[in-house]
Amino acid sequence: MRTPELDNAIANPATYADEPRIHEMLAKLRKEDPVHWTAPDGFRPYWAITKYDDILEIEKRNDVFHNEPRSTLMNIQTEHDLASMWGGPDPKTGRVSPFRTLIDMDGEDHRAYRGLTQAWFMPGNLKKLEARMGELAKRYVDKMLEHGNSCDFAREVAVYYPLHVIMSILGVPESDEPLMLKLTQELFGGQDPDLKRDETKSSTDTNVILDFFMYFNKMTAERRANPGEDLASVIANANIKGCPLGDLETASYYIIVATAGHDTTSSSIAGGLRALIENPDQLKKLKENPALLDGAVNEMIRWTTPVQHFMRTAMEDYTVRGTKIEKGQALQLLYVSGNRDEEVFADPFRFNITRDPNRHVAFGYGAHVCLGQHLAKMEIKAFFAELLKRLDTIEITGEPKKIQSVFVTGLKSLPIRYSLRAA
Ligand code: HEM
Repeated sequence: MRTPELDNAIANPATYADEPRIHEMLAKLRKEDPVHWTAPDGFRPYWAITKYDDILEIEKRNDVFHNEPRSTLMNIQTEHDLASMWGGPDPKTGRVSPFRTLIDMDGEDHRAYRGLTQAWFMPGNLKKLEARMGELAKRYVDKMLEHGNSCDFAREVAVYYPLHVIMSILGVPESDEPLMLKLTQELFGGQDPDLKRDETKSSTDTNVILDFFMYFNKMTAERRANPGEDLASVIANANIKGCPLGDLETASYYIIVATAGHDTTSSSIAGGLRALIENPDQLKKLKENPALLDGAVNEMIRWTTPVQHFMRTAMEDYTVRGTKIEKGQALQLLYVSGNRDEEVFADPFRFNITRDPNRHVAFGYGAHVCLGQHLAKMEIKAFFAELLKRLDTIEITGEPKKIQSVFVTGLKSLPIRYSLRAA
């Protein structure tokens, strides 16, 4: 049965900025058509997967469901524009994106590339960053004090802190952070009218993706000439089967770390703070018992689910929940829906910092599960540990606004008033 209105809404970035609407729509799909053939105008059709168990099953079967060639949802025009920028699509794989990141890889290639930095992102290694993270968290809570007793938390605090963490890990100098902020927001928030690059005002005819490539190609050359301790040096000087990474793969590696580690974490911090303010009993409980912070951070991530979806493509026929997926068809794994699945989470629309178990899919699952998940949790925890110990009162003073995007979304505005103590 054709459902054009519903299908257009699923693919419309504005729907994801309207929380009641998106959740109402996804709840209906979970109930009535959890493996839904979706054919929005201007898109290649695909299956929208809304149940938690189905998302897990598809992610587990990464022998059948590949990330390449269609890892995220784009309309046909954007796919065409991207491909024509670099002479794509790739004749072998059909990839249209000019990047070849971990997200676009499968099988042995993916394992090899992921293996280059996997140990670096493990809790044991990240421990060495704990003190630095605490310092940065203090710096950004101090920034709130510098703003007086009110600020737009999303715009003025939450975007900068994770950016600073990820850039210092990569080794991008602080003076280049404003440029990185602009590029990541334009890349991820490219569908939101407030964040979109105005191409007519661009001083050159390059676009956001080429800007990234130019920046990171320069960085690779520098790190190969003078390796340091940072993650960029690990990537620039890595070898696979005795050969250094190609330019495309090296730049793509920085790009995935820089972009994936930024907007996602800031979305969880801003959305997490909003949830605490809107649920004063939970805020009180957490302030009285900081030992609950790990669970609270995990619930903030489930609650906000910054990454709305990733896509997969079936390499062979496969049946999901009784529906036959044909070889070559694409599937959209809607994490935003899986994390509100009533069959898995008790009272899923309640923000509950002591939720247990809380095995959400905000970080995905399986071979591609978020590489930075431990880092993200550490960052969010450090921020709230610092904030909560200094916070007396806090309230929302204006309408919170979300970024319009089908991919990574979160708050772009959260006006708040507060009283905070100096450290
Ligand atoms: C709350 C914050 C974050 C969320 C919600 C998030 C979410 C995700 C999701 C859903 C995936 C895809 C998983 C899948 O396909 O199964 C992913 C992959 C990835 N994330 Fe995160 N992420 C976050 C923070 C970070 C941070 C801080 C980094 C640090 C650099 C990072 C780096 C990556 C990388 C490199 C991948 C690709 C992994 C692969 O394909 O093997 N993420 N993330």
